[in-house]
Amino acid sequence: MKKTVISVKNLVKKFGSFTANDNLNFEVYEGEIFGFLGANGAGKTTALRILSGLSSPTSGEVIVAGYNAKKDPEKIKKNIGYMCQKFSLYSDLTIRENIMLYGGIYGMPKTLIIKRTEDLLDKLSFHEYSDRLIADLPLGLKQKLAFSVAVFHEPKIVFLDEPTGGVDPITRRQFWEMIYETANRGITVFVTTHYMDEAEYCNRVSIMSEGKIVAIDTPAKLKEQYGAKTVEEVFIKIARPDNRPHPLPSPSRLSGRGGNWVGIE
Ligand SMILES: Nc1ncnc2c1ncn2[C@@H]1O[C@H](COP(=O)(O)OP(=O)(O)OP(=O)(O)O)[C@@H](O)[C@H]1O
Ligand SMILES: [Mg+2]
Repeated sequence: MKKTVISVKNLVKKFGSFTANDNLNFEVYEGEIFGFLGANGAGKTTALRILSGLSSPTSGEVIVAGYNAKKDPEKIKKNIGYMCQKFSLYSDLTIRENIMLYGGIYGMPKTLIIKRTEDLLDKLSFHEYSDRLIADLPLGLKQKLAFSVAVFHEPKIVFLDEPTGGVDPITRRQFWEMIYETANRGITVFVTTHYMDEAEYCNRVSIMSEGKIVAIDTPAKLKEQYGAKTVEEVFIKIARPDNRPHPLPSPSRLSGRGGNWVGIE
């Protein structure tokens, strides 16, 4: 029997009158690699932040690792790892300092932090760079490190928001080897990506379009259902059916000159 670790029922997230997540319903199972696909602005990051306990749903029921996202977001945070869409490590700290800092944030005992830091530096072959600043690392290495840090405390679930954006194909493949290894340890991986070759590596994928989930299944079944050879073909058929560009948000939804979303949630 598959064990459900994420259960989402009728999830709605509104920003003012705009609906970013429009009645989402899905489940994710333990140890699964679940791909969360959708065009720019489809609502992936919005949902991912709710599932991670970082933002509250407008309505609906979201249970993650046994905890309700509305009532117990702090308990969810303790049981998950999160790698955000923008770079998540501290650029002005060294590799070793970053790893140890996150171990501390996750509340791990000091002896365990020291041991796991050494293990991780070994695993990534990072020992000789351990005292280099993050700012000096190439993007692919930064992303591998950010992922390793997100699972450093062995969470039940790890959420990865476009972890391989801008990363070269060889490093992306190595990154996915790390994802597989993590899933094999029983950690559920919830990942967003715009790379459709990566979607093929997932156990199941969902495809979002304009705030709604329009398809959800294994890559093989989706291809069969849509008469497509690749997930990319399926995606192009349904992710934004009339190929419109992503609509610009109305000025009333923007706050701050840089278009940063501040204080609207
Ligand atoms: N805090 C906010 N206030 C107002 N609107 C927001 C806020 N956050 C996101 N949005 C809007 O919600 C919609 C979904 O955004 P979201 O970031 O979830 O998309 P996404 O699928 O992650 O896109 P991308 O692939 O570009 O990362 C977009 O139209 C975005 O402009
Ligand atoms: Mg996003």
